[in-house]
Amino acid sequence: MGRLVEYILLLLSVVLVVSTLTGSTNNYYNEPTGNEGFTDCSLTKKFAQFFNVSLTSYTLKRGDSIHWNADLQIKRTIKWGILHFTMTHKFKNYTNITFLDDKFNLCDFFVDLINKHCPIQPGMYHLNYSAQIPNLLWPGRYYAKGTVYNKKGEEMMCQMTELTIK
Ligand SMILES: *[C@@H]1O[C@H](CO)[C@@H](O)[C@H](O)[C@H]1NC(C)=O
Ligand SMILES: *[C@@H]1O[C@H](CO)[C@@H](O)[C@H](O)[C@H]1NC(C)=O
Ligand SMILES: *[C@@H]1O[C@H](CO)[C@@H](O)[C@H](O)[C@H]1NC(C)=O
Ligand SMILES: *[C@@H]1O[C@H](CO)[C@@H](O)[C@H](O)[C@H]1NC(C)=O
Repeated sequence: MGRLVEYILLLLSVVLVVSTLTGSTNNYYNEPTGNEGFTDCSLTKKFAQFFNVSLTSYTLKRGDSIHWNADLQIKRTIKWGILHFTMTHKFKNYTNITFLDDKFNLCDFFVDLINKHCPIQPGMYHLNYSAQIPNLLWPGRYYAKGTVYNKKGEEMMCQMTELTIK
């Protein structure tokens, strides 16, 4: 029981960290968004845009604490959203293994991250999240990707990064 809860919390932690990654986007590569280490993979920036996205480190040990910071500009009121988070490990140069592939309620994340309930009004929000790297991850190189969809299935945000777990 205790272990299960701990596992779920750790899993959620990492998801939150990357969720943040989910944010949205700077597609203009010459625009000074300051998204160090993060790639914007969103199709559009009409819903939201991330600035100054960073992790304290992209090389981590299991059990390490990690801090994710970002400035999120929300452009359209968010009433509902699904966050799809995946974390995929490059295994021995010949296959990818998906360790995490989960969907979460975006509005719950906003409660945790900025203590606000949906609907989230347009504006700039500073996101600061701390989490711990779960022990279940194998050492190696990972792609972490977060995508957010609205009720119509439109992609609102997408962020990805690469991490190394030592
Ligand atoms: C990003 O960070 C810089 C330096 O701290 C700050 O001046 C700028 O306002 C930030 N951008 C946004 C959109 O908050
Ligand atoms: C995998 O590929 C990288 C470069 O493509 C190489 O440096 C590394 O040694 C390879 N690892 C294995 C286990 O083959
Ligand atoms: C693993 O995933 C990455 C990123 O999606 C992709 O570029 C790469 O080709 C994949 N490798 C294999 C062996 O499927
Ligand atoms: C993030 O929050 C922690 C406390 O949880 C604080 O120590 C840290 O300074 C904050 N970082 C930023 C950039 O706001």
